[in-house]
Amino acid sequence: MTDLFSPIQLGPLALGNRMVMAPMTRNRAPEGTPTPLMVEYYTRYASAGLIVTEGAQVSEQGIGYPATPGIHSDTQVAHWQAVTDAVHAKGGHIFVQLWHCGRISHPNFHGGAQPVAPSAIQPAGQAFTYEGLKDFVTPRALELAEISGIIEQYRYAAACAIQADFDGVEIHSANGYLLDQFLRDGSNTRTDTYGGTIENRARLLLEVTEAVCNEIGADKVGIRISPINAFNDMYESDPQALFNHVAGTLSVLKPAYLHVVEISMSGEPDCRVDMQQIRQRFQGIYIANGGYNKARGNETISTQAADMVAYGVLYLANPDLLERFRQDTPLNEADQSTFYGGDAHGYTDYPLLESVGS
Ligand SMILES: Cc1cc2nc3c(=O)[nH]c(=O)nc-3n(C[C@H](O)[C@H](O)[C@H](O)COP(=O)(O)O)c2cc1C
Repeated sequence: MTDLFSPIQLGPLALGNRMVMAPMTRNRAPEGTPTPLMVEYYTRYASAGLIVTEGAQVSEQGIGYPATPGIHSDTQVAHWQAVTDAVHAKGGHIFVQLWHCGRISHPNFHGGAQPVAPSAIQPAGQAFTYEGLKDFVTPRALELAEISGIIEQYRYAAACAIQADFDGVEIHSANGYLLDQFLRDGSNTRTDTYGGTIENRARLLLEVTEAVCNEIGADKVGIRISPINAFNDMYESDPQALFNHVAGTLSVLKPAYLHVVEISMSGEPDCRVDMQQIRQRFQGIYIANGGYNKARGNETISTQAADMVAYGVLYLANPDLLERFRQDTPLNEADQSTFYGGDAHGYTDYPLLESVGS
Protein backbone atom coordinates (compact mmCIF):
# COMPACT_ATOMS: atom_id res chain seq x y z
CA MET A 1 0.00 0.00 0.00
CA THR A 2 1.24 3.48 -0.81
CA ASP A 3 1.61 5.66 2.28
CA LEU A 4 3.69 8.48 3.77
CA PHE A 5 6.76 6.25 3.79
CA SER A 6 6.59 5.32 0.11
CA PRO A 7 9.14 6.88 -2.25
CA ILE A 8 7.99 9.21 -5.00
CA GLN A 9 9.51 10.83 -8.07
CA LEU A 10 9.24 14.63 -8.10
CA GLY A 11 10.51 15.85 -11.45
CA PRO A 12 14.16 14.74 -11.53
CA LEU A 13 14.22 14.02 -7.78
CA ALA A 14 13.78 10.55 -6.29
CA LEU A 15 12.30 11.40 -2.89
CA GLY A 16 12.62 8.80 -0.14
CA ASN A 17 9.21 9.48 1.37
CA ARG A 18 6.09 11.60 0.89
CA MET A 19 6.42 13.90 3.89
CA VAL A 20 7.02 17.58 3.22
CA MET A 21 8.28 20.11 5.74
CA ALA A 22 5.85 22.98 5.12
CA PRO A 23 7.27 26.47 4.58
CA MET A 24 7.60 28.28 7.91
CA THR A 25 8.78 31.82 8.52
CA ARG A 26 10.98 31.93 11.63
CA ASN A 27 12.32 35.52 11.54
CA ARG A 28 15.87 34.62 12.42
CA ALA A 29 17.68 36.36 9.55
CA PRO A 30 18.34 39.84 10.98
CA GLU A 31 20.43 40.90 7.97
CA GLY A 32 18.05 39.35 5.44
CA THR A 33 20.55 36.58 4.70
CA PRO A 34 20.61 33.01 6.05
CA THR A 35 22.79 32.55 9.13
CA PRO A 36 24.85 29.58 10.38
CA LEU A 37 21.99 28.89 12.81
CA MET A 38 19.63 28.54 9.84
CA VAL A 39 22.07 26.07 8.26
CA GLU A 40 21.92 23.99 11.43
CA TYR A 41 18.12 24.32 11.55
CA TYR A 42 17.42 23.11 8.01
CA THR A 43 19.97 20.30 8.28
CA ARG A 44 17.94 18.83 11.14
CA TYR A 45 15.01 18.31 8.75
CA ALA A 46 16.95 16.51 6.00
CA SER A 47 15.02 13.24 6.42
CA ALA A 48 11.83 14.88 5.12
CA GLY A 49 11.02 13.80 1.57
CA LEU A 50 11.12 17.49 0.71
CA ILE A 51 11.91 20.63 2.71
CA VAL A 52 10.22 23.84 1.58
CA THR A 53 12.00 26.78 3.19
CA GLU A 54 10.36 29.72 4.88
CA GLY A 55 9.19 32.43 2.51
CA ALA A 56 12.17 34.27 0.98
CA GLN A 57 11.58 37.69 -0.54
CA VAL A 58 12.03 38.01 -4.28
CA SER A 59 13.01 41.69 -3.87
CA GLU A 60 13.35 44.47 -1.31
CA GLN A 61 9.86 45.54 -2.40
CA GLY A 62 8.55 42.12 -1.35
CA ILE A 63 9.49 42.44 2.34
CA GLY A 64 6.70 42.40 4.90
CA TYR A 65 8.16 41.10 8.16
CA PRO A 66 11.28 41.67 10.27
CA ALA A 67 14.31 39.40 9.95
CA THR A 68 13.10 37.37 6.96
CA PRO A 69 15.63 36.24 4.34
CA GLY A 70 15.67 37.25 0.68
CA ILE A 71 16.79 35.37 -2.43
CA HIS A 72 17.77 38.15 -4.81
CA SER A 73 21.36 39.22 -4.03
CA ASP A 74 24.80 37.62 -4.41
CA THR A 75 25.29 37.64 -0.63
CA GLN A 76 21.96 35.90 -0.07
CA VAL A 77 22.83 33.30 -2.72
CA ALA A 78 26.17 32.61 -1.03
CA HIS A 79 24.51 32.15 2.37
CA TRP A 80 21.68 29.98 1.03
CA GLN A 81 24.36 27.85 -0.65
CA ALA A 82 25.58 26.89 2.82
CA VAL A 83 22.03 25.73 3.64
CA THR A 84 21.57 23.67 0.47
CA ASP A 85 25.06 22.13 0.74
CA ALA A 86 24.40 21.00 4.30
CA VAL A 87 20.95 19.57 3.49
CA HIS A 88 22.26 17.77 0.39
CA ALA A 89 25.18 16.36 2.39
CA LYS A 90 22.57 14.67 4.59
CA GLY A 91 20.73 13.30 1.55
CA GLY A 92 17.89 15.82 1.76
CA HIS A 93 16.02 17.78 -0.91
CA ILE A 94 15.11 21.44 -0.55
CA PHE A 95 13.00 24.00 -2.42
CA VAL A 96 12.96 27.70 -1.54
CA GLN A 97 9.62 29.50 -1.26
CA LEU A 98 9.48 32.69 -3.39
CA TRP A 99 7.59 35.39 -1.52
CA HIS A 100 6.33 38.90 -2.18
CA CYS A 101 4.14 40.19 0.65
CA GLY A 102 2.39 42.92 -1.34
CA ARG A 103 0.04 44.82 0.97
CA ILE A 104 0.88 42.66 4.02
CA SER A 105 3.75 44.97 4.84
CA HIS A 106 4.32 48.48 6.18
CA PRO A 107 5.99 51.74 5.05
CA ASN A 108 8.60 51.11 7.78
CA PHE A 109 10.14 48.46 5.51
CA HIS A 110 10.11 50.74 2.46
CA GLY A 111 11.67 54.01 3.56
CA GLY A 112 8.23 55.43 4.26
CA ALA A 113 6.72 54.46 0.87
CA GLN A 114 3.47 52.51 0.71
CA PRO A 115 3.57 48.77 0.08
CA VAL A 116 2.24 47.71 -3.33
CA ALA A 117 -0.82 45.62 -4.16
CA PRO A 118 -3.24 44.95 -7.03
CA SER A 119 -5.63 47.57 -5.65
CA ALA A 120 -5.60 50.35 -3.05
CA ILE A 121 -7.54 48.32 -0.45
CA GLN A 122 -6.38 48.49 3.15
CA PRO A 123 -6.38 45.08 4.81
CA ALA A 124 -7.79 44.82 8.32
CA GLY A 125 -5.14 43.95 10.87
CA GLN A 126 -1.65 44.88 11.85
CA ALA A 127 1.84 44.49 10.43
CA PHE A 128 4.74 43.17 12.48
CA THR A 129 7.43 45.84 12.15
CA TYR A 130 10.77 46.51 13.85
CA GLU A 131 8.85 49.09 15.92
CA GLY A 132 6.15 46.63 16.98
CA LEU A 133 2.64 46.11 15.64
CA LYS A 134 1.30 48.86 13.33
CA ASP A 135 -2.01 49.03 11.49
CA PHE A 136 -1.80 47.97 7.87
CA VAL A 137 -1.94 51.00 5.55
CA THR A 138 -3.74 51.48 2.27
CA PRO A 139 -1.33 50.07 -0.32
CA ARG A 140 -0.47 51.66 -3.64
CA ALA A 141 -2.10 49.93 -6.62
CA LEU A 142 0.55 48.70 -9.04
CA GLU A 143 0.53 50.46 -12.43
CA LEU A 144 -0.03 48.20 -15.40
CA ALA A 145 3.46 49.14 -16.60
CA GLU A 146 4.95 47.79 -13.35
CA ILE A 147 3.59 44.25 -13.73
CA SER A 148 6.41 43.05 -15.98
CA GLY A 149 8.82 44.16 -13.25
CA ILE A 150 7.02 41.97 -10.71
CA ILE A 151 7.30 38.97 -13.03
CA GLU A 152 10.99 39.76 -13.48
CA GLN A 153 11.49 39.75 -9.69
CA TYR A 154 10.24 36.16 -9.50
CA ARG A 155 12.26 35.09 -12.55
CA TYR A 156 15.43 36.58 -11.13
CA ALA A 157 14.86 35.08 -7.68
CA ALA A 158 14.34 31.66 -9.29
CA ALA A 159 17.64 32.04 -11.14
CA CYS A 160 19.29 32.96 -7.82
CA ALA A 161 17.75 29.85 -6.23
CA ILE A 162 19.32 27.59 -8.83
CA GLN A 163 22.63 29.40 -8.40
CA ALA A 164 22.37 28.61 -4.67
CA ASP A 165 21.80 24.93 -5.59
CA PHE A 166 18.21 24.66 -4.47
CA ASP A 167 16.46 21.65 -5.99
CA GLY A 168 13.62 23.94 -7.04
CA VAL A 169 11.34 26.79 -6.02
CA GLU A 170 7.83 27.07 -4.63
CA ILE A 171 5.92 30.12 -5.85
CA HIS A 172 3.99 31.46 -2.86
CA SER A 173 0.51 32.27 -4.10
CA ALA A 174 -1.21 31.53 -0.79
CA ASN A 175 -2.13 33.09 2.55
CA GLY A 176 -2.98 36.61 1.41
CA TYR A 177 0.36 37.68 -0.09
CA LEU A 178 0.85 39.49 -3.40
CA LEU A 179 -0.08 36.74 -5.88
CA ASP A 180 -3.04 35.67 -3.76
CA GLN A 181 -4.10 39.33 -3.54
CA PHE A 182 -4.28 39.35 -7.34
CA LEU A 183 -6.26 36.09 -7.44
CA ARG A 184 -9.11 37.01 -5.11
CA ASP A 185 -11.82 39.58 -5.75
CA GLY A 186 -11.80 40.89 -2.17
CA SER A 187 -8.34 42.38 -2.77
CA ASN A 188 -8.30 42.82 -6.56
CA THR A 189 -10.71 45.35 -8.08
CA ARG A 190 -8.54 46.25 -11.07
CA THR A 191 -10.22 47.11 -14.34
CA ASP A 192 -7.29 46.20 -16.63
CA THR A 193 -6.23 42.76 -17.91
CA TYR A 194 -5.13 41.74 -14.38
CA GLY A 195 -8.53 42.26 -12.72
CA GLY A 196 -12.21 41.53 -13.16
CA THR A 197 -12.73 38.06 -14.59
CA ILE A 198 -11.23 34.94 -13.04
CA GLU A 199 -9.00 34.62 -16.11
CA ASN A 200 -7.68 38.14 -15.59
CA ARG A 201 -7.11 37.75 -11.86
CA ALA A 202 -5.20 34.50 -12.43
CA ARG A 203 -3.07 36.07 -15.18
CA LEU A 204 -0.23 37.32 -12.95
CA LEU A 205 0.24 33.95 -11.26
CA LEU A 206 0.28 32.23 -14.64
CA GLU A 207 2.75 34.69 -16.11
CA VAL A 208 5.00 34.45 -13.07
CA THR A 209 4.87 30.64 -13.22
CA GLU A 210 5.59 30.63 -16.94
CA ALA A 211 8.59 32.95 -16.48
CA VAL A 212 9.95 30.85 -13.63
CA CYS A 213 9.39 27.57 -15.53
CA ASN A 214 11.18 29.00 -18.58
CA GLU A 215 14.07 30.13 -16.38
CA ILE A 216 14.74 26.94 -14.38
CA GLY A 217 12.59 24.18 -15.93
CA ALA A 218 8.99 23.37 -15.03
CA ASP A 219 9.98 20.16 -13.22
CA LYS A 220 11.71 22.28 -10.56
CA VAL A 221 8.70 24.50 -9.89
CA GLY A 222 5.89 24.15 -7.37
CA ILE A 223 3.03 26.53 -6.61
CA ARG A 224 1.27 27.04 -3.27
CA ILE A 225 -2.37 28.14 -3.05
CA SER A 226 -4.86 28.42 -0.17
CA PRO A 227 -8.37 28.43 -1.63
CA ILE A 228 -10.34 28.98 1.59
CA ASN A 229 -7.80 30.78 3.76
CA ALA A 230 -9.23 33.99 5.22
CA PHE A 231 -5.88 34.86 6.86
CA ASN A 232 -4.60 38.37 6.09
CA ASP A 233 -8.14 39.63 5.48
CA MET A 234 -8.68 37.63 2.31
CA TYR A 235 -12.04 37.06 0.62
CA GLU A 236 -13.15 35.47 -2.64
CA SER A 237 -16.76 35.28 -3.83
CA ASP A 238 -16.37 32.05 -5.88
CA PRO A 239 -13.29 30.14 -4.71
CA GLN A 240 -14.25 26.84 -6.35
CA ALA A 241 -14.46 28.38 -9.82
CA LEU A 242 -11.35 30.50 -9.27
CA PHE A 243 -9.12 27.72 -8.00
CA ASN A 244 -10.44 25.13 -10.48
CA HIS A 245 -9.37 27.57 -13.18
CA VAL A 246 -6.00 28.22 -11.51
CA ALA A 247 -5.25 24.49 -11.23
CA GLY A 248 -6.29 23.76 -14.80
CA THR A 249 -4.30 26.57 -16.38
CA LEU A 250 -1.21 25.98 -14.24
CA SER A 251 -1.35 22.32 -15.22
CA VAL A 252 -0.73 23.20 -18.87
CA LEU A 253 2.70 24.57 -17.85
CA LYS A 254 3.52 21.14 -16.30
CA PRO A 255 5.02 22.33 -13.00
CA ALA A 256 6.25 19.67 -10.58
CA TYR A 257 3.61 20.19 -7.93
CA LEU A 258 0.62 22.08 -6.60
CA HIS A 259 0.71 22.60 -2.83
CA VAL A 260 -2.71 23.28 -1.36
CA VAL A 261 -3.36 24.71 2.11
CA GLU A 262 -6.74 23.10 2.61
CA ILE A 263 -7.74 24.96 5.79
CA SER A 264 -8.31 28.54 6.87
CA MET A 265 -5.59 29.75 9.22
CA SER A 266 -7.78 32.42 10.78
CA GLY A 267 -11.03 31.07 12.10
CA GLU A 268 -13.67 29.14 10.28
CA PRO A 269 -13.68 29.54 6.50
CA ASP A 270 -16.84 31.25 5.26
CA CYS A 271 -17.00 28.94 2.26
CA ARG A 272 -16.49 25.34 1.24
CA VAL A 273 -14.31 24.12 -1.58
CA ASP A 274 -14.02 20.57 -2.90
CA MET A 275 -10.23 20.22 -3.05
CA GLN A 276 -10.56 17.08 -5.18
CA GLN A 277 -11.96 19.15 -8.04
CA ILE A 278 -8.76 21.20 -7.86
CA ARG A 279 -6.61 18.09 -7.67
CA GLN A 280 -8.31 16.52 -10.69
CA ARG A 281 -7.55 19.57 -12.82
CA PHE A 282 -3.83 19.47 -12.04
CA GLN A 283 -1.70 16.80 -13.73
CA GLY A 284 1.38 16.97 -11.46
CA ILE A 285 2.01 16.03 -7.84
CA TYR A 286 -0.64 17.29 -5.37
CA ILE A 287 0.66 18.17 -1.89
CA ALA A 288 -2.02 18.47 0.79
CA ASN A 289 -1.52 20.61 3.90
CA GLY A 290 -3.44 21.78 6.91
CA GLY A 291 -4.08 19.96 10.18
CA TYR A 292 -2.83 16.55 9.04
CA ASN A 293 -1.54 13.92 11.45
CA LYS A 294 -0.02 10.53 10.66
CA ALA A 295 -3.31 8.63 10.28
CA ARG A 296 -4.95 11.23 8.07
CA GLY A 297 -1.76 11.63 6.06
CA ASN A 298 -1.55 7.90 5.36
CA GLU A 299 -5.22 7.68 4.52
CA THR A 300 -5.03 10.65 2.17
CA ILE A 301 -2.15 9.10 0.29
CA SER A 302 -3.48 5.55 0.23
CA THR A 303 -6.82 6.75 -1.16
CA GLN A 304 -4.93 8.90 -3.69
CA ALA A 305 -6.58 12.08 -2.49
CA ALA A 306 -3.03 13.51 -2.41
CA ASP A 307 0.45 12.38 -3.50
CA MET A 308 2.34 13.98 -0.61
CA VAL A 309 1.41 15.64 2.70
CA ALA A 310 3.05 18.76 4.16
CA TYR A 311 3.28 19.20 7.92
CA GLY A 312 3.79 22.62 9.50
CA VAL A 313 3.62 22.80 13.29
CA LEU A 314 4.25 19.05 13.77
CA TYR A 315 7.47 19.32 11.76
CA LEU A 316 8.54 22.52 13.48
CA ALA A 317 8.62 20.75 16.84
CA ASN A 318 9.78 17.37 15.49
CA PRO A 319 12.61 17.56 12.94
CA ASP A 320 12.69 13.74 12.90
CA LEU A 321 8.93 13.50 12.28
CA LEU A 322 9.47 10.77 9.68
CA GLU A 323 11.16 8.51 12.22
CA ARG A 324 8.64 9.37 14.94
CA PHE A 325 5.76 8.48 12.61
CA ARG A 326 7.53 5.27 11.62
CA GLN A 327 8.03 4.21 15.24
CA ASP A 328 4.78 5.71 16.56
CA THR A 329 6.68 7.54 19.29
CA PRO A 330 5.31 10.55 21.16
CA LEU A 331 5.75 13.97 19.57
CA ASN A 332 7.34 17.11 21.05
CA GLU A 333 4.87 19.92 21.74
CA ALA A 334 5.44 23.09 19.73
CA ASP A 335 6.23 26.25 21.72
CA GLN A 336 4.36 29.11 20.04
CA SER A 337 6.31 31.76 21.94
CA THR A 338 9.46 30.89 19.95
CA PHE A 339 7.87 30.59 16.47
CA TYR A 340 8.80 34.06 15.23
CA GLY A 341 12.23 35.50 16.06
CA GLY A 342 14.68 34.74 18.84
CA ASP A 343 17.67 32.44 18.96
CA ALA A 344 18.38 28.72 19.01
CA HIS A 345 15.78 28.13 21.69
CA GLY A 346 12.64 26.70 20.12
CA TYR A 347 14.52 26.55 16.83
CA THR A 348 17.36 24.05 16.89
CA ASP A 349 16.84 22.55 20.35
CA TYR A 350 13.71 20.43 19.98
CA PRO A 351 14.99 17.01 21.11
CA LEU A 352 15.51 14.28 18.55
CA LEU A 353 14.59 10.66 19.25
CA GLU A 354 18.20 9.57 19.50
CA SER A 355 18.87 12.13 22.26
CA VAL A 356 15.67 11.19 24.09
CA GLY A 357 16.59 7.52 23.98
CA SER A 358 20.19 7.98 25.12
C1 LIG B 1 5.59 29.51 12.44
C2 LIG B 1 4.86 29.38 11.12
C3 LIG B 1 5.33 30.07 10.01
C4 LIG B 1 4.71 29.93 8.76
N1 LIG B 1 5.26 30.56 7.66
C5 LIG B 1 4.79 30.27 6.42
C6 LIG B 1 5.47 30.74 5.26
O1 LIG B 1 6.54 31.40 5.30
N2 LIG B 1 4.92 30.42 4.05
C7 LIG B 1 3.77 29.71 3.93
O2 LIG B 1 3.31 29.45 2.81
N3 LIG B 1 3.12 29.24 5.03
C8 LIG B 1 3.61 29.49 6.25
N4 LIG B 1 3.00 28.93 7.36
C9 LIG B 1 1.85 28.01 7.19
C10 LIG B 1 2.34 26.55 7.19
O3 LIG B 1 3.14 26.29 6.06
C11 LIG B 1 1.13 25.58 7.15
O4 LIG B 1 0.37 25.87 6.01
C12 LIG B 1 0.25 25.69 8.40
O5 LIG B 1 1.04 25.61 9.58
C13 LIG B 1 -0.81 24.59 8.41
O6 LIG B 1 -0.20 23.31 8.43
P1 LIG B 1 -0.18 22.43 9.79
O7 LIG B 1 -1.59 22.29 10.24
O8 LIG B 1 0.46 21.12 9.41
O9 LIG B 1 0.67 23.19 10.79
C14 LIG B 1 3.58 29.10 8.62
C15 LIG B 1 3.08 28.44 9.75
C16 LIG B 1 3.71 28.55 10.97
C17 LIG B 1 3.19 27.77 12.17
